[in-house]
Amino acid sequence: MVEEALPSKVRARVPSTTNGTARNRPTPLHEVTLGTETRIRTGVNELDRVLGGGIMHGSLILIAGDPGIGKSTLMTELGKYIPDRKFLYVTGEESTRQVKLRAERLGVDSDNFFLLSETNVESIIDAAQEIEPDVMVVDSIQTVFRPDIESAPGSVSQVRESASALMQITKEMNFPTFLVGHVTKQGSIAGPRVLEHMVDTVLHFEGDRHHAYRILRSVKNRFGATNEIGVFEMHEDGLAEVKNPSEIFLSEREYDISGSTVICAMEGTRPVLVEIQALVTPTSYGTPQRTATGYDGRRLQMLLAVLERREGLRLSTHDVFVNAAGGVRLDEPGVDLGVVIAVASSFRDREVDRSTIFVGEIGLGGELRTVGMLEPRLKEAEKLGFARAVVPRNNARGLTGGAIEVMPADRLHQVLDWVL
Ligand SMILES: Nc1ncnc2c1ncn2[C@@H]1O[C@H](COP(=O)(O)OP(=O)(O)O)[C@@H](O)[C@H]1O
Ligand SMILES: [Mg+2]
Repeated sequence: MVEEALPSKVRARVPSTTNGTARNRPTPLHEVTLGTETRIRTGVNELDRVLGGGIMHGSLILIAGDPGIGKSTLMTELGKYIPDRKFLYVTGEESTRQVKLRAERLGVDSDNFFLLSETNVESIIDAAQEIEPDVMVVDSIQTVFRPDIESAPGSVSQVRESASALMQITKEMNFPTFLVGHVTKQGSIAGPRVLEHMVDTVLHFEGDRHHAYRILRSVKNRFGATNEIGVFEMHEDGLAEVKNPSEIFLSEREYDISGSTVICAMEGTRPVLVEIQALVTPTSYGTPQRTATGYDGRRLQMLLAVLERREGLRLSTHDVFVNAAGGVRLDEPGVDLGVVIAVASSFRDREVDRSTIFVGEIGLGGELRTVGMLEPRLKEAEKLGFARAVVPRNNARGLTGGAIEVMPADRLHQVLDWVL
């Protein structure tokens, strides 16, 4: 339970537009005018794609992530990507000096980069009205406050009401605003979760702080596909785009070990090849453990049950660990087949051919079910030099053959016979 203070009678000076102008009346669709350009392209493909093709004017974008993951870095660099746009960076966490130091390290050198160290939403709005930015960043939403709301910055009501005031100015002046939000360990009660309904776009910035790779993922987007990812690598001088993430996710593949397969998952509109690793060891005592990293644990349980019941693998006396290499998170049924084969491969201690990829959903009967967008997946695999792809038979129909050999299968045991 979270205590929420009632708003006081004094309302904040959020901009009022109701002057009886036509703006607030219903308008026939064909009379609604669009600007000549509706999106600002940053020129950074990994970012533009995640946003659905550029930053939409008048959109409110939440960028959420763990502390230290690189949100401020990405937002500061945004100023570098769009040097001829007026860029207002509001920081509530750092001093202007700190931001300046970071900007220098990142090589941001733009006359249009404006910096404001401020936490009062009213002053932020005043500043925005004064300099009329093309893009605004508020870092972070947890540090700003509205004086008319009595609770502390970072509390649910402050976060929600501050965001709502910033949303009004964003829509009003029709410039995009990025809100930076920290995700807290406790499931973020006072964090960005309360904002997800309000904003147009929610981007998660993920990655392991101990690795250089960072994934920017759209989990909600009113102006583009969701689950689109952009991959970056953190360097001292900033975030570098990673043009071909498959190469990275496969780069640490060990030679000649059992329990390793390659799958091709669709991340938004883009196919990504990922190595799946499984380790199956006899349970020494008690209940067998099932641990999945980067993959749904319950889905794994289900697949293990299928392997046990339909294919006769005695997994109930074994611990099973499954890992999607490279820190990605796979939540698509099309990766099932690769997971199952990795587990079976480790269980039998037989290696799987390195040049084969696996695509397919597994049903409870041990059957291979069709997946969407097979062709882009096969193209990606072909590009990275894979020779064979095991796919569901129904998918293989009408497939225009590329250089990759397609092996259609309708049952799991067929695939197990082939590869193990
Ligand atoms: N001098 C530096 N050289 C290289 N990397 C740095 C340097 N300073 C900070 N970083 C990187 O930037 C990260 C912090 O990024 P930041 O954008 O401040 O995170 P957030 O805003 O998400 O909390 C650090 O974890 C580190 O990886
Ligand atoms: Mg920060």
